[in-house]
Amino acid sequence: MSAEPIEDMCLTTRSGRDEWWRDAVVYQVYLRSFADGNGDGVGDFAGLRARLPYLASLGVDAVWVTPHYVSGGADGGYDVIDYTAVDPSYGTVEDVRALVADAHDLGLRVLLDIVPNHTSDQHEWFRRALEDPSSPEAARYHFMPPSENPPNNWQSMFGGPAWSRTPDGRWYLHLFTPQQPDLNWDNPEVADDFDRTLRFWFDLGVDGFRVDVAYGLFKDPAYRDNPGIYSPTLFGHGPEQVMTTNQARVHQIWRRWRAICDSYAEEKMLVGEVSLADLDQVGLYARPDEMHHAFQFRLLKSDWDAAAFASTITEALDAFAAVGAPAPWVLGNHDKARQVTRYGSERRARAAALLMLALPGSAYLYAGEELGLPEAPVPDTARRDPIFLRSNGARLGRDGCRIPMPWDSAAPAAGFSVADPWLPQPDGWAGYAVDRQEGDPASTLTMYQQAILLRDLYKAPGSGLASVTLEGEVIRVDLIARDGDPDPITVWINMGSETVTVPAHRLLLASSPDVGGPVAGKLTLAPDTAVWTRV
Ligand code: NOJ
Repeated sequence: MSAEPIEDMCLTTRSGRDEWWRDAVVYQVYLRSFADGNGDGVGDFAGLRARLPYLASLGVDAVWVTPHYVSGGADGGYDVIDYTAVDPSYGTVEDVRALVADAHDLGLRVLLDIVPNHTSDQHEWFRRALEDPSSPEAARYHFMPPSENPPNNWQSMFGGPAWSRTPDGRWYLHLFTPQQPDLNWDNPEVADDFDRTLRFWFDLGVDGFRVDVAYGLFKDPAYRDNPGIYSPTLFGHGPEQVMTTNQARVHQIWRRWRAICDSYAEEKMLVGEVSLADLDQVGLYARPDEMHHAFQFRLLKSDWDAAAFASTITEALDAFAAVGAPAPWVLGNHDKARQVTRYGSERRARAAALLMLALPGSAYLYAGEELGLPEAPVPDTARRDPIFLRSNGARLGRDGCRIPMPWDSAAPAAGFSVADPWLPQPDGWAGYAVDRQEGDPASTLTMYQQAILLRDLYKAPGSGLASVTLEGEVIRVDLIARDGDPDPITVWINMGSETVTVPAHRLLLASSPDVGGPVAGKLTLAPDTAVWTRV
């Protein structure tokens, strides 16, 4: 796409909007694990509502709630039975309305999750499709006639073939579990129905949606094989899945959804899960008339490696700048082992967080990362993730990053619930509790609070620009200054094993107390630390 039309479209779509999302900090709540309000061991809307002041004091701009719909429970709520109803274990539609009202009073926006690639196998459409192969509902899924072998080589992200049989021998497509049949988006009735769903929640006051599998929806119309043998996982899809992901037709849907957002007087936003390896392709999902944010997961997938971090940041900034979109950054979520464990220490996770919170664009935090939670051990018998169950334990899955939050170190279940939590908290979990960290200048929670506050003061709003330099195993990021600020901030992160000296005349924030200086315009940066400075 050339630069000229993008400029034009930016001007059109930006008029009259404050575009709060451009440099927002969004906090992802795993609803089932955040806070239990009704004492059944499962997180819910009442619990989340009661904890909104905590999110306000953390300083985030918005909360994204993982799926709250009536669900078959095969994949943590990502198998939806009813898109306009709340699962009774989480509350009611009125609870959502009340949550939104309270959040708005506190200056927080609310994003829900929406799951358009697939429904639950218990959705009324799929039930009807099973009963009657010639029904209109059957035409809303991908069915193939009975045959000895699956129709093609498409694989499920959770392991095994992406095709399962119906009781009458037909095949149906599911890129995830067999309980998540893929919808056929070439049928216009599907798009029409999702328009109604969006409006239902928007009319209730919800501010936007995180769009599940936004790189999916459409499939190759001729159902041709993907090239070669492949075993897909959740992140970073490339040409091996050319027939099942990133079909050009999907962009029409995001334009259609964007038009629905823009039809509201209040600003509504979309953030898409775009798990494509090619960042330029990811950027296309965030063109000015498509989604507001498109998640790229290369940073989340990067090991503790300065070169990988630096190249990802540069390439992502370039890819999003090319379409005039802000880069949304994410280091952890409900699908990935927690960064403390992935990087090897809380010290490193803190340094990475300081880097991320300074980068131009928006930042997405996953509940509990601000407490420095590690990936938790989970007994096999307690594991719920279909990835674990479908691989017979060969893949551990995602339960370890979904353990209920610790709030109060002295309370049962660390203040999450008065009942046993739906996933067991490991020994020592209460040591990470919010009450232990609040007000402690050395805590990870305090570091996150300070970074979010300072980011608002120093970061140029909405700017997608920064210069990123790799110096050995140290990354230097020079941010573009706010208007009128003569002295922009420079961020350093030392991902190597040697202490280094960097120029700085003022230290604004450090990820660790063992950063030395500044003395005579220099600062010593120990391994695995990051700083925000004035150079
Ligand atoms: C991505 C979601 O983040 C993940 O949790 C889910 O399993 C799949 N999409 C399928 O909906």
